[in-house]
Amino acid sequence: NASRRYSIAVIPGDGIGKEVMPEGVRVLEAAARRFGFALDLQWHDFASCDYYLKHGEMMPQDWKARIGKVDALFFGAVGWPDTVPDHVSLWGSLLQFRREYDQYVNLRPVRLMPGVPCPLAGRKPGDIDFWVVRENTEGEYSAVGGHMFPGTEREIVMQETVMTRFGVDRVLRYAFDLASKRERGHLTSATKSNGIAITMPFWDQRVEAIAAEFPGVTHDKYHIDILTAQFVLNPQRFDVVVASNLFGDILSDLGPACTGTIGVAPSGNINPDGTHPSLFEPVHGSAPDIAGKGIANPVGQIWSAAMMLEHLGEAEAAAAIMAAIEAVLSTPAGRTGDLGGSANTRDCGKAIAESI
Ligand code: NAI
Ligand code: MG
Repeated sequence: NASRRYSIAVIPGDGIGKEVMPEGVRVLEAAARRFGFALDLQWHDFASCDYYLKHGEMMPQDWKARIGKVDALFFGAVGWPDTVPDHVSLWGSLLQFRREYDQYVNLRPVRLMPGVPCPLAGRKPGDIDFWVVRENTEGEYSAVGGHMFPGTEREIVMQETVMTRFGVDRVLRYAFDLASKRERGHLTSATKSNGIAITMPFWDQRVEAIAAEFPGVTHDKYHIDILTAQFVLNPQRFDVVVASNLFGDILSDLGPACTGTIGVAPSGNINPDGTHPSLFEPVHGSAPDIAGKGIANPVGQIWSAAMMLEHLGEAEAAAAIMAAIEAVLSTPAGRTGDLGGSANTRDCGKAIAESI
């Protein structure tokens, strides 16, 4: 926005979310000082299992009013399976945000960073650099279907894929637009029109229709089965990959896995229209096995901050955060233990903030 003042809901959540969030905020504040914008940060203790144990719900009924009008949500991680079942904690918090704020794009970078050992042989930083754009509201994850005659010989289960032209077009348009801003300007669509012979041909048709709006972007398509193989064998082929909810779910885990640890991977749940705020969070969860030790890798949270600033229009600050992450990951003293380094959570966060 023109005032360059951003109001942000800060929600650390559970476990290491509470440890990596302060580092994400430290880096955000460093970027604000250096690039001359202002942050109005409101911390919330809800959307956590501690809150649930105290109040019997993951969030207050009036959570939307309490968050109020913000430009974005900055989220840590939610879940503490020892005390609250995962489906309760996840559905009561994160999925509420995604739904209520119509965050219809899930965006994840797939980028090989220095200092992160690549599980694919012979790849170095610069070789792998693309985005996965996942449809986040409809498709295969629908509530249309049913279960009849359970436990009998006549048992029937059915669950329908739901694609709407509205839902498909808007995510495709987002992906083509993203590709149009990239140097290579190339989009790959995940399909399976040879097997899923009604919805996927429709998806392919809409890809062609939206492609016509973006003459500067080249595009191709792969069936999902061979596409997963190409992620592993030829990741350098990809620039922006767009996929339906289920295919995107798989690709958005496979992609970051091809570039190393989940400790560094960020994601955005985006409402591109700007009618609601978007949410930025690391890909990892609350990591109960290492929580409380101060050793979690904060880079996923910090990279999420960079994505958030990019989304808010502070591209220069976002690029500075990425450069600082790369500089710090390049030295063993900057890296946390999961990357074979000697830094703890705070050392790593401080080093990135200082580098900015
Ligand atoms: P997880 O991502 O929390 O942990 C998986 C493994 O990766 C653990 O061994 C953990 O120590 C390690 N790890 C994760 N992040 C790390 C980091 N930043 N630095 C170093 N090591 C890291 O996944 P898990 O164990 O399956 O789930 C734990 C809880 O988190 C569950 O309650 C789950 O529902 C929740 N979860 C929440 C997510 C979210 O808030 N978006 C996403 C994934 C899981
Ligand atoms: Mg997933």
